[in-house]
Amino acid sequence: MERTIEQIHEEAFKEIKSVTDSESIKALSSRYLGRKGIITHFLRNISSLPQKKRPEAGKRANEVKKSLDEAFKLALKHLATESLQSDYKIDVSLPGRTIKQGSLHPITQITWQICEILEKIGFDIAEGPEVETDHYNFEALNIPKNHPARDMQDTFYVSDNIVLRTHTSSIQVRIMEKFTPPVRIIAPGRVYRCDSDLTHTPMFHQVEGLMVDKGISFGDLKGILTTFIHHMFDKKTSLRFRPSFFPFTEPSAEVDILCVMCKGKGCRICSHTGWLEVIGAGMVHPAVFENVGYDTTRYTGLAFGMGIERIAMLKYGIDDIRKFFENDLRFLRQF
Ligand code: FA5
Repeated sequence: MERTIEQIHEEAFKEIKSVTDSESIKALSSRYLGRKGIITHFLRNISSLPQKKRPEAGKRANEVKKSLDEAFKLALKHLATESLQSDYKIDVSLPGRTIKQGSLHPITQITWQICEILEKIGFDIAEGPEVETDHYNFEALNIPKNHPARDMQDTFYVSDNIVLRTHTSSIQVRIMEKFTPPVRIIAPGRVYRCDSDLTHTPMFHQVEGLMVDKGISFGDLKGILTTFIHHMFDKKTSLRFRPSFFPFTEPSAEVDILCVMCKGKGCRICSHTGWLEVIGAGMVHPAVFENVGYDTTRYTGLAFGMGIERIAMLKYGIDDIRKFFENDLRFLRQF
């Protein structure tokens, strides 16, 4: 009995070696391992052997079955490779080209970091359109037509009443129209201004912040922005609040960070002041509340808008804001 299974094994191998196409391999496999195949038949007949010989014969027959099954699969694979090579004249043994993994743009990375810190402070994320009406971008923010403050932001007009939003503050109004206080949102997004130099680009990104409730004070504004800067950079980062003017906040301030390029000594990046302006902020002007129907005797609010590229420049020590948008892979791969 054992000799017979060994013989079958040997014969099957001889036949596999002589076959040259995959159809014949499949037929051979069926002849040996199919339902009515030689090995299957052999296994069925084991019960006719003397009791003592059955376990050993069964074990060996199963080993041969497994070995032949592997041999048929290998032969099929081998024939498929050979036919590929001869049909297309390609060397299938050549290693493949690796696909390089991309990465997030540095501005996206910084935006996500900013949002993560502010979300931990308790802000929810909101958004608004980039092509905006004059009303939301200016009028409702206490900037009527012909107001000199419109000159502060060189606007791209789509038509008389439609603009590319010049700041994310337009989202403030949209949110306040929809929700009653308490409101606590941040709104990241692209904004557009006709402006270009070392620290200005015509398209850049801002994150707006708005918090409205009973009893919100300038102290809350200072606390939130100081906490934010210390988490974004580190606890030793020097920052200052400088009095400023925005028609939609009163009082208003700008937040500067000590210039990382010159460590405050003065260089062309910080226009030789030693500081770089990163955030505009203030207490929401009562006129804005009136425009959205909020009760100015009950509620006060704080608002801020930060330039994401400026923060990225300081974080990574970049000396020209325009590098973020040149799409030079040698620059982008560093992040
Ligand atoms: C504003 O846009 C106000 N909306 C900010 C604000 C929001 C004030 C809420 C009060 C309350 P400003 O024009 O200063 O302010 O811009 C804010 C920040 O955007 C600046 O501090 C600066 O970091 C950045 N920024 C301004 N112009 C450019 C530009 N052309 N390119 C890159 N970043 C800019």
